[in-house]
Amino acid sequence: MRKYLALFSFCLLGISCSKTEKMDITVIPEPQVIEVKDKVSTFDIHSTFSSNLPEKDLKDLSAYVAASPLQLKVSESNTAPFRFELVESIDGISSPEGYTLTIDQSGVKSTATTAAGLFYAYQTLLQMAEFTADNSYRLPQVQITDYPRLDYRGLHLDVSRHFYDKEFVKKQLDAMARYKLNRFHWHLTDGAGWRIEIKKYPELTENAAFRPYQNWQEWWKGDRKYSNKHDKEAHGGYYTQEDIREVLEYARQLHITVIPEIEMPGHSEEVLAVYPQLSCAGKPYHGGEFCVGNEETFTFLQNVLLEVIDLFPSEYIHIGGDEAAKNNWKKCPKCQARIRKEGLKNEEELQSYLIHRIERFLNEHGRKLLGWDEILEGGLAPGATVMSWRGEEGGITAAKAGHDVIMTPGAYCYLDSYQDAPSTQPLAIGGFLTLEKVYSYNPVPEQLDDSQKGFIKGVQGNVWTEYMPTPEHTEYMIYPRLLAIAEVGWTLPEHKNWELFHTKALEEVAWLQEKGYHPFDLSKEVGEREVAKKPVEHLALHKKVIYNNPYSNHYTAGGDSALVDGIRGGWTYLDKRWQGFIGKDLDVTVDLGTATKFKSIATEFMQLTGPYVWLPKEVTFSISADGKEFTELYKETTQVPTTVETLTFHTYEWKGESEAQFVRVQASLNEIAGGWLFLDEIVITD
Ligand code: ACM
Repeated sequence: MRKYLALFSFCLLGISCSKTEKMDITVIPEPQVIEVKDKVSTFDIHSTFSSNLPEKDLKDLSAYVAASPLQLKVSESNTAPFRFELVESIDGISSPEGYTLTIDQSGVKSTATTAAGLFYAYQTLLQMAEFTADNSYRLPQVQITDYPRLDYRGLHLDVSRHFYDKEFVKKQLDAMARYKLNRFHWHLTDGAGWRIEIKKYPELTENAAFRPYQNWQEWWKGDRKYSNKHDKEAHGGYYTQEDIREVLEYARQLHITVIPEIEMPGHSEEVLAVYPQLSCAGKPYHGGEFCVGNEETFTFLQNVLLEVIDLFPSEYIHIGGDEAAKNNWKKCPKCQARIRKEGLKNEEELQSYLIHRIERFLNEHGRKLLGWDEILEGGLAPGATVMSWRGEEGGITAAKAGHDVIMTPGAYCYLDSYQDAPSTQPLAIGGFLTLEKVYSYNPVPEQLDDSQKGFIKGVQGNVWTEYMPTPEHTEYMIYPRLLAIAEVGWTLPEHKNWELFHTKALEEVAWLQEKGYHPFDLSKEVGEREVAKKPVEHLALHKKVIYNNPYSNHYTAGGDSALVDGIRGGWTYLDKRWQGFIGKDLDVTVDLGTATKFKSIATEFMQLTGPYVWLPKEVTFSISADGKEFTELYKETTQVPTTVETLTFHTYEWKGESEAQFVRVQASLNEIAGGWLFLDEIVITD
């Protein structure tokens, strides 16, 4: 009895008591090694912790844990139930972000070699804690050894297409910290609005940070003009340098580095609208690329970067570099003079000239250049780090050349794609990227050798916000997919487990909702298109297809057999199951090998106007015994208007009884300039 009382009072003092019981452990990202002891410890809210962290770090940790749900209080006593201990080294952990965490009957002890490691140990505790009604919480007794697979685990946010205030940014930083993400890539400038106060160039925020339309789509379809900040109908905004300092301090306490992106030489329409002398045309609204032949361009960019460097402590400064259209440079006397003077071969090398110069400038100021994979074109600057977005090829090339790489390929990391069946989702830019697909990503390509693999520094989820007009919608696209990015970046492949992750993500969605986030409700996920789930059998399977017009090299779906391989397309033409045609009508003949009786011919096309994909204007099926003389069997003129923007599928189908060796399918391009046709299979059945 005395023993019982002693234990009871022990508990009242906020020190752990333990009992035999198994608790589910749901931590995202999954720790590398967890030994579970089937015992549970209980702690009071306001328990104390001690730590040998240096004063400033201790102050940060104390403030964080006091404000967090465990509400730990700092104590000088080394009998405090929680102990966060900074150590010189830990066996088996080389990452400075790694930690150990032991929970047993004597309390909780974490060790790490940095304050970040101890902070992550605390995040693990927070996720494991189960709160009870009596102002206490339970923790499973465990021994955890944990460290990240990759150093750089990021979230990118485009605040140009739609502007989100600093409170929104801080809220996302909070979630990032929970999932042990450590880089926030802030896409601060782009053609849809300049978002950072630059004292030397006030026009950028006076006249290029606002638009007459809040919604990017309306603005994009309209005249794409900007407004004065004081206009009655001005929508948008920017961060003052004070705002930015506040966000940076917030991020610092969460062990998150904020990487600013200042776009150049393309995606700069907003700058050139207010400083038109920096464009080749010398006039506003004439393209989005800086004139690289003009010295004033460099003066401007360097002055902007000086203020950026002054604000942001990040070693990396992202300079964009993507999607610069080079046509204006071809016609520009200044750009052409620069090409001649510098002995450059072409406009790609002109872009590379700018990137090299900017890299030298950043290096002189103690910073490193990070850019999208187009910075490879025309020759990569010597110390540049490549962010590979157009697939992994750019990253692979860069790693082979000894450059650091961050992997962000569109097919796995673009969180602006649909995350579920598009018909169930708000309008998105296109694509189809489920939680499972994000989770399946391996950012370290197998074709690299071990030393080259070492250049893959990280992975990042990218949030381009053209179709995300509200903060709620943006969160809906970010979560829960960001959780998968976090586990991809942190957890070694051998410790990943999709089924377990899916269960954890379902729980975490509920947590996010409770905390005021707006995640996609994973429990309602519909998933892939039904027809795409399993191969289809039919008479034309693996027969010869004669292409009277070629398919696009970009969308081959596997080549000449794609339309008769039995594999139906999914929700996106990017899934390598849809064959694409551009510039010429679709015109193919299937050779069934011998005269064959059949009762139906069907083929399905899709329409998604954002990326210029339209249903055909007209589809014709005809048949032939010799492959020369064809008789028309069926013709359908598409009734779906070309103005329907949302993803639409339409099946063109003939039914009857017929016999032929050759079946020809023709589909005419719609009268929309530059449009695509996509189909997945020609299904012939008996
Ligand atoms: C990009 O998506 N243009 C980097």
